Amino acid sequence: MAYTIAIAGKGGTGKTTLAALIIHHLLKAHGRPVLAVDADPNANLNEALGVEYVRSVIDTIDRFMGGKEQLPAGVAKGRYLEYQIESALFESKGFDMLVMGRTEGPGCYCYANDLLRGLLDRLSDNYRYVVIDNEAGMEHLSRRTTRNVDTLLITAVPTVSALRSAARIHRTALELDLNIHKTFLVINEPNERPISTDEKAGMEEVDLTKINPAVHREISSLQGSGLPLLGIIPFDYNILERSIEAKGLMDLPDDSPVLETVARIVEKILA
Ligand SMILES: Nc1ncnc2c1ncn2[C@@H]1O[C@H](COP(=O)(O)OP(=O)(O)O)[C@@H](O)[C@H]1O
Ligand SMILES: [Mg+2]
Repeated sequence: MAYTIAIAGKGGTGKTTLAALIIHHLLKAHGRPVLAVDADPNANLNEALGVEYVRSVIDTIDRFMGGKEQLPAGVAKGRYLEYQIESALFESKGFDMLVMGRTEGPGCYCYANDLLRGLLDRLSDNYRYVVIDNEAGMEHLSRRTTRNVDTLLITAVPTVSALRSAARIHRTALELDLNIHKTFLVINEPNERPISTDEKAGMEEVDLTKINPAVHREISSLQGSGLPLLGIIPFDYNILERSIEAKGLMDLPDDSPVLETVARIVEKILA
């Protein structure tokens, strides 16, 4: 069974960026195979990873349920759909990728939901690592496409309101009937306004007392409620530049400030 890292957090807090950078580090430092899962209906992890995808799992189900896909003679419906779903998996530069797609179809997909349930658990047998980029509501997780999450990372920007939102997501995660072994907060700075004086600093170097006191209090309160801070990802101009042109993050320059921080985050998770 693979080691599963899931990333949740409000929109715009850097989930997709962090997922892509974690995958980048896993491939570089730990070798393959990695399964990248985009479970955000507004899927763009493929862009951050610099790959194209053909169709999502939900598109596959849509086609099938909409009657556009003919069932070959003698093949059971469930088995065929399962096969179709698994063929939505595509191989890319050293990793495989699965795009779940949007989940609110016009009809009731209870049947498809049953098939999807446990999908990631079944697939994860073939990988060493699974990295899931979620949406804030953690819809796929809550629909139990997987039951097993070794580490859940909740991303937030360094503001009181964003940190409170991280706390709410944490509570939702606790309410889900999932096996989440560890949960951490990751602060990300998508704006050129570093919270510490040293913009290259990872968590070790950041003196938390130098952060805005209200933000600091909120972080301490999260630590107290079982959401410890794992790292602070600095603003990185290279990410901004690549994001403008949707270029992907797999070839950031070696001295990119985020790389060291993310490497440290991953190593702490796997330690
Ligand atoms: N550390 C960072 N430095 C610079 N830009 C960042 C950083 N983290 C995220 N961004 C940018 O912020 C935007 C939102 O990040 P994204 O990862 O898409 O968030 P989410 O997936 O949570 O919606 C993107 O344009 C991304 O390129
Ligand atoms: Mg995203």
